Amino acid sequence: MIQEYLARPAALVAGEITVPGDKSVSHRSLMLGGMASGDSHITGFLASEDCLATLAALKALGVGIERPEPTRVIVRGAGDVFKAPAGRLDMGNAGTAMRLSMGLLAGRPFESTLVGDASLMKRPMERVAAPLRLMGAAISTQEGRPPVVIHGGAGLKAIDYTLPMASAQVKSAILLAALRAQGRTRVVEPAPTRDHTERMFGAFGVQVLRDGPAVSIDGGQKLMATDIQVPADFSSAAFFMVAGALAARDGLLLKNVGINPTRTGLLELLKQMGADIRVHVHGSPDTGTGEPIADIEVRQSELAGITVDEALVPLSIDEFPVFFIAASVARGETVLRGAEELRVKESDRLAVMAEGLAALGVKHELLPDGIRIQGGAGFSGGTIDSHGDHRIAMSFAVASLRASGPIRIRDVANVATSFPGFVELARAAGLDLEVR
Ligand code: S3P
Repeated sequence: MIQEYLARPAALVAGEITVPGDKSVSHRSLMLGGMASGDSHITGFLASEDCLATLAALKALGVGIERPEPTRVIVRGAGDVFKAPAGRLDMGNAGTAMRLSMGLLAGRPFESTLVGDASLMKRPMERVAAPLRLMGAAISTQEGRPPVVIHGGAGLKAIDYTLPMASAQVKSAILLAALRAQGRTRVVEPAPTRDHTERMFGAFGVQVLRDGPAVSIDGGQKLMATDIQVPADFSSAAFFMVAGALAARDGLLLKNVGINPTRTGLLELLKQMGADIRVHVHGSPDTGTGEPIADIEVRQSELAGITVDEALVPLSIDEFPVFFIAASVARGETVLRGAEELRVKESDRLAVMAEGLAALGVKHELLPDGIRIQGGAGFSGGTIDSHGDHRIAMSFAVASLRASGPIRIRDVANVATSFPGFVELARAAGLDLEVR
């Protein structure tokens, strides 16, 4: 197993690259395919540990799944009929797998127990359990954390629920349960979050009603199998967007990237910093997912610090680790507030990034809900501990483009949870990464 990266300073990135499929869309394509009647063919599937955890869980629930190629999956949906799993369902590092599965499994006539790795076992699950209980599900957590036990139960009823935090995972779990609830369920978001579930429901024939910050669906709707082409993951492309802004003198082109507007906050943030980023939108959205796609071209630019508009926080939530790398290079101060959700991701991303920035000589002030970074001086060499967080590991690999010495990045095995082949692609683009 790869334990650590040695990222040596490299001066230039260039070329044309395609990052792997979208993680959020891949998880959902498996789950909705499993709830549907008929065969759904998925192409561009993300063959990462997180999505394979969802795949294994669905198989354990009796769904027929074939994978003729690593990125091609056929889900043989039997019309939302699941069987009791023989053992606990292990979701590995994947918060999306666990939280959406809670919605998928709530109110079924059998018990299921969800567990995960050391990081996932520490993450909050009451945010999902609480609304599902209001729907009639019997769910227990251990002081709010996994193991999550979903007890067998009677039917679910619709709720009208205002989310206490902006979370697509909580919203999606409720919507998945709502399909089997009696009546019309309505979820109100405090701020827009990724809407892949809603879009994909449409592709599977489920009617979704949207009214400003509210999304509603009627229970009892049946899903019909469909074919899904998964776009390249914007969140994986993000590492190369920042790499390009730091070091692509002749440009770097990222192909077929999903540009769902609920995901692309980083484009706006980098543009505000002065990055030269052009988005070449493809003619029509993908038919299977309803997701818009583009090629993204980025060039080395002089960056300047910004104050992040809080409305952009949920739209860039997974991109902040690599955004902090851009902010460290940008001239002047960058300020982020209203991002306390970063503390409950795969790691406490505010604390772990701050620790890494300190190790590389970047001046900053850690705030309860954000960070203040004094940029412009670049990075020294040093040693980073990613605390098992894939996005932290990849972010500091990108930092090597503006480092004065090698950066040793420890605990990187979890990069495989979201980005298989990262090292090879990063090398192809020009980064100098050694794996140990
Ligand atoms: C995801 C939603 C986000 C994001 C996660 C994937 C999803 O989490 O951070 O990586 O696929 O719904 P929250 O909804 O908890 O913010």
